[in-house]
Amino acid sequence: MVALDGPSGTGKTTVARKLARRLSARYLDTGAMYRVVTLAVLRAGIDLADEHAIGALAHDVDFALGTDPERPDVRLHGEDVAAEIRGPEVTGAVSPVSAVPQVREVLVARQRRIIADAIEDDGGIVVEGRDIGTTVAPDSPLKIYLTASAEVRAARRNTQDSAAGRASSVESARESVERRDRIDSTRAASPLRAAGDAVQVDTSELTIDQVIVALAELARGRGLLG
Ligand code: DC
Repeated sequence: MVALDGPSGTGKTTVARKLARRLSARYLDTGAMYRVVTLAVLRAGIDLADEHAIGALAHDVDFALGTDPERPDVRLHGEDVAAEIRGPEVTGAVSPVSAVPQVREVLVARQRRIIADAIEDDGGIVVEGRDIGTTVAPDSPLKIYLTASAEVRAARRNTQDSAAGRASSVESARESVERRDRIDSTRAASPLRAAGDAVQVDTSELTIDQVIVALAELARGRGLLG
């Protein structure tokens, strides 16, 4: 397996999916899990300060996540919510929801089961998130931590939002990126940080394809690519 961590705007999702294809592995987007629970919280009208209610909902909510890197679909009560979980409402609420310890407990247990199944099936899995190398899979044979400057990350987020038809500007993207980083890095439960044995890759000046070449080389070095 490959653990791929880092803040948003580093190209993590694109890189993770391409790397999974290259390795003929499964793909798990753990951010999508926190987002789908956040969507359920918003739909239920739960107050974002009500940790108890959020934790209880995370425990009971019925969602499904695909692990095909070509088509990683996300369903909430059977409904396809892949687009909605990337929208501004969910993005604005996901950090407080993902800081609730019970949410993390439930989702990390589920992530570990998916990883174990993929490893048992022999194909391996590329798992992207914030705490994969530190908490979810500390024994992962390859841990990557992607970084990029705040300017580059905000510009990338802005391009993504505009392409998806969402209102955006570089300033608002930068504010949102920095706000989320702040909450994600300072929360008590599994804060965003690189594992001591992670390979750090700064993607500011690299194209996606250059990042893939570098990561495939690392994977080959760990015996994860034939
Ligand atoms: O990668 P993303 O932007 O889709 O992640 C959405 C949020 O989920 C992010 O603000 C932090 C949280 N998250 C987390 O706490 N732990 C993870 N393993 C993945 C995401």
